Amino acid sequence: MEIIIQPTASAASIIAARLIARLVYHKPNCVLGLATGSTPLATYQELIRMHREDGLDFSHVTTFNLDEYVGLSPEHPQSYHHFMQEHFLRHVNVAPERIHIPDGMTSDVPGLCERYEAEIRAAGGIDLQLLGIGSDGHIGFNEPSSSLASRTRIKTLTERTRNDNARFFSSPAEVPLHCITMGVGTIMETRQVLLLAFGPNKAQAIAEAVEGPITAMNPASILQMHPVAKALLDEPAATSLRRLEYYRWVFDNKPDWQRV
Ligand code: F6R
Repeated sequence: MEIIIQPTASAASIIAARLIARLVYHKPNCVLGLATGSTPLATYQELIRMHREDGLDFSHVTTFNLDEYVGLSPEHPQSYHHFMQEHFLRHVNVAPERIHIPDGMTSDVPGLCERYEAEIRAAGGIDLQLLGIGSDGHIGFNEPSSSLASRTRIKTLTERTRNDNARFFSSPAEVPLHCITMGVGTIMETRQVLLLAFGPNKAQAIAEAVEGPITAMNPASILQMHPVAKALLDEPAATSLRRLEYYRWVFDNKPDWQRV
């Protein structure tokens, strides 16, 4: 895994947006895997700016989101459908028919999950997957102990994740118990992963994911086995890494052609 440490979350987000923009520029019909939550917000803002000011064109891009809460309709203000419209999709020109987000209101969860996997395959697979990380090491909503080979399916959120996400709801009890999430195996099949982590609350999960053993107790740790994974961190999220100075040294000494 390549570890990129930046002074601020906004500097790291600009790098993430540039990497995504570069892919969209070189492969206009690319397939992007998208995430929700606080972490990717600044990346989306930068992509929106590039769309408006530099003409970055998403008209041939296909998107697949990682996850959605079960029981929330697309119009619900805390649904991930709503989040994506508000924070990214309504500001750019992704064609509505190429946007994919699991339907949290489905009456057939297993059928929907199978179709989601089939749609990813039919689109040619995901070229680049944007990921945040939970304070417990989850990616998507694959909570600790998730199978590292899992596919899109229903998961039960941990108390810790529900508490972390309670800030978006009027009370912790309103955070849904269940979600539909791409599996760890689904994420591992994507061609490139950008894992973003900002703030001290993520430091422990990042240290375990990057330098710890590969274990289902920190699902992000499987990214050590991904052939093209970059972790983009701000300083507070990087503080528990043992080889911090080495990662900085590698980044500072990249050949010019590898710079973003
Ligand atoms: C969101 C997702 C989650 C979040 C993670 C971090 O689609 O899949 O894994 O990335 O819970 O959330 P934030 O960014 O709010 O700290």
